[in-house]
Amino acid sequence: MSTPVVDLQAVHKTYPLGEYEVKALRGVDLKIAEGEFTVIMGPSGSGKSTLLNLLGCIDLASSGSVAVCGHDTAHKNEKELAEIRRDNIGFIFQAFNLIPVLSVYENVEYALILKKTPEAERDEWVRQIIEQVGLTPHMHHRPNQLSGGQRQRVAIARALVTRPRIVLADEPTANLDSETGKSILRLMQQMNDIYKTTFIFATHDPDVLSFARRTIRIHDGKIEHDHAAKKTASARRKGK
Ligand SMILES: Nc1ncnc2c1ncn2[C@@H]1O[C@H](COP(=O)(O)OP(=O)(O)OP(=O)(O)O)[C@@H](O)[C@H]1O
Ligand SMILES: [Mg+2]
Repeated sequence: MSTPVVDLQAVHKTYPLGEYEVKALRGVDLKIAEGEFTVIMGPSGSGKSTLLNLLGCIDLASSGSVAVCGHDTAHKNEKELAEIRRDNIGFIFQAFNLIPVLSVYENVEYALILKKTPEAERDEWVRQIIEQVGLTPHMHHRPNQLSGGQRQRVAIARALVTRPRIVLADEPTANLDSETGKSILRLMQQMNDIYKTTFIFATHDPDVLSFARRTIRIHDGKIEHDHAAKKTASARRKGK
C-alpha cells in the first residue's frame, strides 16, 4: 500500500463522564488507502462517530497514533488541525451546521471561499454541484425554507464542492428518499473514480453498503471484522 490517507495504531478514546469514564475506542488499528470506499458498521454506541471524529481531526485520541494524510494529529494545535481539515476533508455529519442566514448557494460557496478558490471557478463549481444534488430550484432559499432531506443535500454539496481527498459521512442518506440517496451515491462514486476521493461512511443503509468496497464492523470500541469486497465497485459496474 502506498502511504495510507488514514493510519491509526493502537488508538484508545476515553470520555470522562462525571466520576466515571467511557471507553469509546479500545485499541483500534486501521489503515485506509487513497480511493477506498469504506463503510463502518456497528450498533448504537459502538464508537462509529467517535472514530469519524478522530479521522476528521475534530477530536484527538486519548492514546495511540492517528495520522491523516500523513499528518500525525497528536501534537497539532487547533489552528493546524483546522488547516488539515480545510485542505483535505469534507464532512457530511448528522448535525448539518448550515449557516442559517446564507442561501443554499452561499452555504456551498462558503466552503470554497475558505479555501481561497478564485471567484470564477467558484461560481461554476457551486452551480454544478447544486445541480447534481437536485437543488437548483432552491438555490436562493435559506436552510429554514428547506425540508430535512433538502438540507442534508446542501450539506452534501458543501462537503463535495471542494473536491476533498477524504469525505467522512455519518449516516449521509438517513433523511433522503431512496432515489435521491442513490443518485447522490452515484455522484460520490464518480468522484471516487475520477478524483480518487476516499469515502468513509458510518451507516446501516443497504444501498450505501452495496457501493462499499470494504466493510468494517465495530463493536464495543473494537474492530471486529474487516472485509474487503472481492471486486471493486467500479469493476462491478464495468462488468469485470
Ligand atoms: N462527548 C462524549 N462524552 C461522553 N461519552 C461520550 C461522548 N461521545 C460519545 N460518548 C460515548 O462513547 C460511546 C461511543 O459513542 P459513539 O457516538 O461513537 O457511538 P456510535 O457508534 O456513533 O453510535 P450511534 O450509532 O448511536 O450514532 C458511547 O458509549 C457514548 O455514550
Ligand atoms: Mg454516531
